[in-house]
Amino acid sequence: MKTRELVALYNTGHRGINSLFAKAHSASWDIENDVDWGLAVQSHDPLVTDGWSPFSSTAAFRSLPEDVKAYVNRRGVGFILNTLQVGESVAQNVCAKIALKVHEEDYRNHAVAQAMDEARHHLAYRRLIEKMNEAVEDIDAVSEARLDAVLAFEDPTYLIAGEQFYLENQAMDILESMQKHACHPLLSKILTLTTRDETRHMGFGVLYLAEWLKRHSLDDQIILAEGILNASLDVIMDRPGKVMLARVLRRLQAAGVSNLEELGERMLAEQQAINENEHSSIVAGKRLPHLLKSARRAGFMKPEILEALHLDKHPLIMGALRGEPDPIVTDDVTS
Ligand SMILES: [Fe+2]
Ligand SMILES: [Fe+2]
Repeated sequence: MKTRELVALYNTGHRGINSLFAKAHSASWDIENDVDWGLAVQSHDPLVTDGWSPFSSTAAFRSLPEDVKAYVNRRGVGFILNTLQVGESVAQNVCAKIALKVHEEDYRNHAVAQAMDEARHHLAYRRLIEKMNEAVEDIDAVSEARLDAVLAFEDPTYLIAGEQFYLENQAMDILESMQKHACHPLLSKILTLTTRDETRHMGFGVLYLAEWLKRHSLDDQIILAEGILNASLDVIMDRPGKVMLARVLRRLQAAGVSNLEELGERMLAEQQAINENEHSSIVAGKRLPHLLKSARRAGFMKPEILEALHLDKHPLIMGALRGEPDPIVTDDVTS
């Protein structure tokens, strides 16, 4: 990079993307003063209500003693917070890379502002884990592989598709469901603040990719859409099953539960029924995951793309296309 290349940076003039940068300042928050770090986290506080972590909606789980459920729910929160704190560090790396690779002024501005948001999120989750005062479970191999795949990209469009689209949309579903079930004020406050920032990050992904699609040939659009739609469908169809059950059973064992085999069978059968209900509500176009809503908004569900990829009859895609698309991602994201 030479100074000469930075002398007259081109701004795309995209109102939505430029307004995200302004919003990154006006809607920002302070890690020291906007979060009450004086709040205690008691050692047996579950932090979330039943129904948030996988298998905790099942009748078999709900019938367990309160102290057992509290232990398992808390372990689930610690595991996700640990995944989130490392995911934030990955996002910071990716944003730094994007800022160095893109030449458009407004894209660079968004990337550097987002990098600061991600640094703040990382700190917030790390501090919350410290307050829990216990060793949390390590990130799982699938999540680590998904993060590694995004870190390995070099092309700015793939970096943005990987981070602001693929990872941020997944994270948003986790954050929103965790927020709905949070029963500790510190966790709830942190999630409120981080979710507000993540909405802007996700918004950038949608707006950037929508612009990219407008400027590229249908063949190029189909190549990008294939990666994005297939990866999204894989994530959405990855429902809690035997691998997650094994993790939950280990937590139950640590909490002193003994009849694990029979309990595990009941929980798996009941969770499968919950999975099917959730799948049906997506197919019916109700309660759509962010990945599907954002893919539609960005333009990846145009008939010519879906037909080329033989995805036009896919039940989840058909579900996403039912009803009106979400008009905007945030209150001021318009192009
Ligand atoms: Fe973040
Ligand atoms: Fe983010």
